[in-house]
Formats: sequence, structure tokens, C-alpha cells
Amino acid sequence: LSKLLYVVGTDTGIGKTVVSLLIMQYLFSKGFNPFYLKPFQTGCSSPIDIDSDARFIYTYVPKLMGKDPSLSVGYCFKNPKAPYFSAIDDRKKIDIKFIKDIIKKQAIDHSHIVIEGSGGLLVPVTDNILIIDTIRIFEATPILIAKAGLGTINHTLLSLEALINRNMKPLAIILVNNDNTPSSMIKENMQAIKMFSGIEVIGVVNNIRDFYYIENDKFAFLDNINL
Ligand SMILES: Nc1ncnc2c1ncn2[C@@H]1O[C@H](COP(=O)(O)OP(=O)(O)O)[C@@H](O)[C@H]1O
Ligand SMILES: [Mg+2]
Repeated sequence: LSKLLYVVGTDTGIGKTVVSLLIMQYLFSKGFNPFYLKPFQTGCSSPIDIDSDARFIYTYVPKLMGKDPSLSVGYCFKNPKAPYFSAIDDRKKIDIKFIKDIIKKQAIDHSHIVIEGSGGLLVPVTDNILIIDTIRIFEATPILIAKAGLGTINHTLLSLEALINRNMKPLAIILVNNDNTPSSMIKENMQAIKMFSGIEVIGVVNNIRDFYYIENDKFAFLDNINL
């Protein structure tokens, strides 16, 4: 049976795709064969467009090179908006069962499905489903990604409250430090998150200069969780 990991975030543009890439690399390095899935890709002119998260993953994971990234895109909607509104713009309707069927099919011969959310947790997918609701619907384990810098204490604690309100707890919190936040501030952010939620940040991802050459030590912190 395949393990379903759901990479969710406090916001858009904070490093969910980059962490998904690290998780994929980590799992391949351990001998697993994970599958990446982006259920709702918006701002998507085509699933193989350079803007697509799946295309990013397939470009930088050596084991996926030459494979078709569109296999990993559930819905592809043109406008860069919440999936619900982007679907309306494209005159389409999101059917969660369509995504569940992709998961079921890929679970047959993959060790893990690494699902990437769209935007933050309270982003509408349909008129009565938010991204956070799809965690339950997909029966997946959430991993919360947040920025390392200013503003992250608030965003992270709010996201954790939303998860806890729905009786969920992330398997891990990972901070992405893409704008050289000083380590003293990152430490304070980690301290505050732990103090007020009781949940530990398990790793910080620093700037990656070249995605083609990601050293193993960039994802070594994933050894601290049971993926
Ligand atoms: N650690 C990092 N090193 C280098 N670039 C990063 C890092 N984290 C994020 N980025 C860049 O920042 C942008 C947003 O990250 P991304 O993972 O696409 O965010 P999200 O999936 O949450 O929208 C992308 O251009 C990505 O390449
Ligand atoms: Mg992304």
C-alpha cells in the first residue's frame, strides 16, 4: 500500500514545490519509488508548461527524467487563482473523485504519493471544499511548509489552528529560507512555533543554488520523520 504525503503550505510561493522535490529525491535515495501529484494546477497553460510544478519536479528529479509530467497534473486551469475560481473561468467543474481515482491508480505501483497543495490551507477547491478538506478526502498525511522569515510565526500558528480544529496534526513542519533570513531569527521563529503549538519544526531548507545538483545533506533532516 502506498503512503500518501500531502505537502501543504501557509501560502503560495513559499517553497511547497521545492520541498516536494526534496522529499521525492530523499525517497528515491532510500530506494523507494514515489509518485508526485499536483491535483489542482492553476496558472497552467499546459501541464508541461515551464510554470507547472510537475514540470519542475520532472526536470530536477533524475529518476523522472524523460517521463511525462502531465501524468502528475490532475486539473490544469489557466488563470492563476484559487482552483475554484480558476475552474469557473475555464468553464470546468472540479470532481474530487477524478483525483481520488488518479491516487488509487498510482498507488498500485508506487511506494508513496507526494501530493502538493495549491496555495494555503483555506483555499477554495469547490463551493464547499477547501484545500484543508482535501487532506481528509484523500486520506493523506499533511506536511506543513512555511517561510523561514518575518511573518511566519503568525502564518504557521494560524495554519496549525486550522488543522487542529479539524483534528489533524502535521507529520512535520518545514521552513524554507529562500531570502537569507538570519539564523537567529529563524531560531526565534522555531521557538515560537514550538512554544505556542507544541509542534517542533523538523528542518530548514536553505537556498538551493542549482536544482540539478542537490547534495544529500539538503534533505538529510527528513531522516527525523517517518516518511
Ligand atoms: N530553498 C530554495 N532555494 C532556491 N529557490 C527557492 C527555494 N525555495 C523556493 N525557491 C523558489 O521560490 C519560488 C517559489 O517556490 P515554490 O516551491 O514554487 O513555492 P510554492 O510551491 O509554495 O508556490 C520558486 O521560484 C522556487 O524555485
Ligand atoms: Mg508549488
